[in-house]
Formats: sequence, C-alpha cells, structure tokens
Amino acid sequence: MLVQGNRRLTSDIWVLDLVGEFPYDKVTPGQFVHVLIGDGTAHPLRRPISIASCDPVGKTLSLVYRVVGDGTKWMRERRPGETIDVLGPLGHGFPAPQRPGPVLIVGGGVGVPPLYQLAKVLHAQNVELDIVLGFKDHGDVFWADEFGKLGHVTICTEDGSVGRPGFVTEALGDDRDWATLYSCGPRSMLKALKTHFQGTDIQGYVSLEERMACGIGACWGCTCENADQSEARRICKDGPVFSWEEIQL
Ligand SMILES: Cc1cc2nc3c(=O)[nH]c(=O)nc-3n(C[C@H](O)[C@H](O)[C@H](O)COP(=O)(O)OP(=O)(O)OC[C@H]3O[C@@H](n4cnc5c(N)ncnc54)[C@H](O)[C@@H]3O)c2cc1C
Ligand code: FES
Repeated sequence: MLVQGNRRLTSDIWVLDLVGEFPYDKVTPGQFVHVLIGDGTAHPLRRPISIASCDPVGKTLSLVYRVVGDGTKWMRERRPGETIDVLGPLGHGFPAPQRPGPVLIVGGGVGVPPLYQLAKVLHAQNVELDIVLGFKDHGDVFWADEFGKLGHVTICTEDGSVGRPGFVTEALGDDRDWATLYSCGPRSMLKALKTHFQGTDIQGYVSLEERMACGIGACWGCTCENADQSEARRICKDGPVFSWEEIQL
C-alpha cells in the first residue's frame, strides 16, 4: 500500500496512513495486519499492528504504533509516496454485541488503537458508548478528541496529570448497566477488569498481545491458555480477541 502520511502523535507514538487496495470488506474491528519490515532480509518476521481505522470508500488504512525496536523504527522513517507490504486482515476481531444495551470500551496505551475502529462501527449503529482510556501521563494521551465524537470519554492517567488519576478500573462506577465490554491493553488491566465485573452479567471481550512469528496460526509461537488451562489458543489465529470466559488471563 502507498504511504499517504506518517505523523507523530506523542513522543513515541505515530500514525501511519496508507492508501490503496486492501480487502476492506473483510475487516472486523480488532483485527491486525502483518507489516513487512524493509524487504524482509534483515527482519524476516513481519510485525503485527492493529487496524486502528479503515475506510473502504476512501481506500485508507491507519496504523497507530509505538516505536520500540527496529521494526517500528523502520516504520517511523517511511515517507509519503513509498510503498509498504501489509498482509491482512488477520485474526479474529471483536464480535458484535450479543444483546442490546450500552457498551463499555476500555483501552490502555497502545491497546487503544483497535478500539477506535470498533467505536466507529458501533457509533454508526447508534450504540451508546462509554469509553475509558488509560495512559501513563499527559504526554502519552492520543486520539481523545477523536473518541469523543463517538461516545462519552473518560481519560485516566497513572500520575493524574490529565483526566482522572489512577487506573481505568478506578474510573468505573457501579451505576451503569453495561451489556458488553470490549477491551485491549496490558494483561494486568484486562485481568483487573475481569475481576471488577465478576458476578455481573456483562459480556466481556479482550484483545491479547503476544510476540508473533508467522501470524497465521502455523508456528504456535503466540499461545495463551484456555480457561481451564487444558489447551493452548493461538493469539494470531484464534484471537487476538477472545471472550474473557474462554481464556486464562
Ligand atoms: C495482534 C497484535 C496487535 C498489535 N497492535 C499494535 C498496535 O496497534 N500498535 C503498536 O504499537 N503495537 C502493536 N502490537 C505490538 C507490536 O507488534 C510490537 O511492538 C512490534 O512488533 C515491535 O516490533 P519492533 O521490531 O519495533 O521491536 P522489537 O525489536 O521486536 O522489540 C522491541 C521490544 O519490544 C518488545 N515487544 C515486541 N513485541 C511485543 C509484543 N507483542 N508485546 C510486548 N512486547 C513486545 C520486545 O520484547 C522488546 O523488548 C501488536 C501486537 C500484536 C500481537
Ligand atoms: S505467530 Fe505463528 S501461530 Fe501465532
């Protein structure tokens, strides 16, 4: 795909806008693409990045990424007019809500991007959205305004420099009867959410992250355990989104 833009959102988070042919009609929010780094010689393993936004009409795809190593540094250097090889959409994304009612979306750090495409889709279906986004500090916050156009947004920062101080679970009151929860972020956050809602009938879906090799279910290099720890699940193929009852968090 052709690079249309590559902009810095925070000190280490960037958004890469791509344009061109892609199987847009097959995209479910929460799916990811596998990005070829250079010509693949120095870095034979592609890097998984969630689809943060896609528009089948304008034929655009946006990826929001934190620069952490060689692959994402290479992505940061891409300029408009260059081409990038992206494979996808891969994995299973977030299922549609199984029952009517308000939806809670909770994201943390670079777990936030795939929730944007989800929020866009649910907003277009007139679903009422409460969106809680957790970041380290004020310099880490991105896309709060974009999410604000889709639902009621609460920002939390660990140091309280913007929004509510503390972790996302501390921002969740008991006064709302959410039917469905969608979440992506650090495993500790997902676990805390599951504990928070224990005993309620909210249906929870979580998106997991793991280092990946093939990205298509062939190598079993990205597994998590099912709920009773009797079987492995491949995050790239069976996930990255799972019902939180299905897996061991
Ligand atoms: C399904 C899925 C979706 C993802 N979506 C996004 C996204 O939208 N935006 C984004 O910024 N990142 C996302 N990631 C993480 C991203 O794939 C890695 O950060 C990226 O591959 C790092 O590549 P690199 O070459 O820059 O770093 P590397 O040189 O490969 O690694 C640099 C450092 O990051 C750590 N690291 C690498 N990958 C992971 C990982 N998956 N989890 C935890 N630590 C890791 C390494 O252990 C090392 O310390 C996603 C991962 C998965 C599995
Ligand atoms: S990365 Fe190979 S099975 Fe998931």
